[in-house]
Amino acid sequence: MRFGAYGYIKQFLKDPKSTGSLMPSNKGLSELVTDTAKLSEVETVVELGPGTGVFTQKILEKKNPEALFFAIEINSEFCEATRFRCPAATIYKDSAENTKRYLKKHGKDSCDCIISSLPWAVFDHVTQDRLINVIWDVLRPGGRLITFSYSISMMVPNARRFRSILLNKFSNVVKSKTVWSNFPPAFVYRAEK
Ligand SMILES: C[S@@+](CC[C@H](N)C(=O)[O-])C[C@H]1O[C@@H](n2cnc3c(N)ncnc32)[C@H](O)[C@@H]1O
Repeated sequence: MRFGAYGYIKQFLKDPKSTGSLMPSNKGLSELVTDTAKLSEVETVVELGPGTGVFTQKILEKKNPEALFFAIEINSEFCEATRFRCPAATIYKDSAENTKRYLKKHGKDSCDCIISSLPWAVFDHVTQDRLINVIWDVLRPGGRLITFSYSISMMVPNARRFRSILLNKFSNVVKSKTVWSNFPPAFVYRAEK
């Protein structure tokens, strides 16, 4: 299924709290997220919330060909869109809460890198805590979480709460420059377990 701007907005209107944005990330943000992940160095990478697959496509281009990669997406129409854009990718239709189950299915207990697009700023506290604990649990020591935030969302208490969680729980939390060309402008966090 090819997704136009209207199709994406439709998903947002259906479920704003899960979709978290009106448009997919642009090329600039996709490049920055996937460069920050240093994908040529990782053996296992998991993407959470691929949406229409803009990051997925870059992950496939940049990862080591031997590396294990799969994505987990809760919205079935986004799953279809990512499968259409990236036929070589393994996409599971499920919640990120079940990441460990899919790692086990591939014979792994942990992963080196999580690339997350989960909309932290619209999640309530319980959901933020539950999902960050899942990510912490599945990352190996020294493993990295790469995620992004819209600059404007830093006005929202839950986005600031998420930043505090990262700073308190992870080490070497680094915030990137702002990608002004994205709508809305966004920056990337890299956090190490
Ligand atoms: C802000 S969109 C980002 C989509 C895409 N990665 C991009 O950057 O354009 C957030 C995505 O996370 C997905 N999502 C939200 N909650 C989720 C969950 N609990 N498990 C898996 N995916 C989830 C949404 O369906 C949506 O595709």
